Amino acid sequence: MSNVYEEMTTAELDEAIRDLEEQADEIRARGLSLDMARGKPSAEQTDLSRPMLDLLTGDVELSDQGAPVANYGAPDGLPSARRLAADLLGVDAANVIVNGSSSLNLMHDAVVNALTQGIGGNRPWIAQGPVRFLCPSPGYDRHFAITERYGIENVPLAMTPTGPDMDEVERLVQGDASVKGIWCVPKYANPTGITYSDETVRRFAALRPAAPDFRVFWDNAYVVHDLYDGGDQLLNIFDALAEQGRTNLVYEFASTAKVTFPSSGMAFVTASPDDIAELRAAFSIMRVSPEKLTQLAHVRFLRDVDGIRAHMARHAAILRPRFDLVQEKLTQGLGDAGVATWTNPRGGYFVSFEGPHGSAKRIVALMRELGVTLTGAGATWPYGADPLDSNIRIAPTFPSLESLSDALDVFVVAVRLVSAQLALEARQG
Ligand SMILES: Cc1ncc(COP(=O)(O)O)c(C=O)c1O
Repeated sequence: MSNVYEEMTTAELDEAIRDLEEQADEIRARGLSLDMARGKPSAEQTDLSRPMLDLLTGDVELSDQGAPVANYGAPDGLPSARRLAADLLGVDAANVIVNGSSSLNLMHDAVVNALTQGIGGNRPWIAQGPVRFLCPSPGYDRHFAITERYGIENVPLAMTPTGPDMDEVERLVQGDASVKGIWCVPKYANPTGITYSDETVRRFAALRPAAPDFRVFWDNAYVVHDLYDGGDQLLNIFDALAEQGRTNLVYEFASTAKVTFPSSGMAFVTASPDDIAELRAAFSIMRVSPEKLTQLAHVRFLRDVDGIRAHMARHAAILRPRFDLVQEKLTQGLGDAGVATWTNPRGGYFVSFEGPHGSAKRIVALMRELGVTLTGAGATWPYGADPLDSNIRIAPTFPSLESLSDALDVFVVAVRLVSAQLALEARQG
């Protein structure tokens, strides 16, 4: 569809801009203070897990299949917590460590361990010269922040509707031994919402990295976060590895952050027996044992995978109207303008929006002026550098439906105004 502003005569364009500026002035006068920035559950969602808080009473039995809850011990996590995590990810509980409340924390520690201790008997990454990580973009800013912090070079890589550009992944991973890892969110990716196709997963499992200490960081943060019945099906990467007779290639992470309470849940990692033994050894230096009261509460509350799915269906009932509203408002407001595209995910926490080239920073700045906070433009790219300055991450979960509706109305005006201004500026050279 062609850009309506580019099709207008200059007089029509001037008038459209004046009209949009008037609308922006009216919005500014309302003194709004709305937030569509971070992917957090709403209070309504976290309230779903309040009954969990009543499960740990003073007379509760503080052991789990013989493992102590009230004292140090069970460094890999409580047996029933490891079982729950293993069932959720479809892996062997013997290869699962449940530790801490943040999966990002486990990813961080795995990177630092590889940097300082090395993987699989190889020299520490840091002793091998420059280290590079592949960053499918747009992607998750906090992933990129971990590798950036430790001086690893973040290499952006295109995302396609079926996952990262696998031709590029294969070329770089198989041709360059300084490429030591790749950040992946394989289901309902942050922020595009896409789920990797079976072929993509199989191509990951079939990788023959130039570096023996290369690992795929498979962050399955949205593993059960379907919005609609019959959500996307992600092929189990460990099954794909087994099909290929491959091992020692993938670290998979997940957590209950967006199942129960972000920052007060269970985080877990699974990997091959060799890899998990290395991570176990690293974690044993970093912490004596995990916080098992939290684990006990979670397994009592969620019980099993069916229990998690039932709980997530309640989240979905709260989230669906928000995601539907995003599609409705963007289609109504921008569908005929030919200036933008956006994703329509079937799960996860985000909608990824592509505006005209050179528009994202200006839209985000204008939105701030109009009283709506968005994720910073560029945040979805390594070093905050979106080459086309076109991607904006929309996070619809946290605001109330009314606030979200207001914020989206403002967004439509901001996108139209910036698009019209860009069309005029292009004409003026
Ligand atoms: C892809 C992804 N991974 C990890 C996290 C954070 O998870 P945790 O709270 O378990 O560290 C988020 C949160 O937004 C996320 O989007």
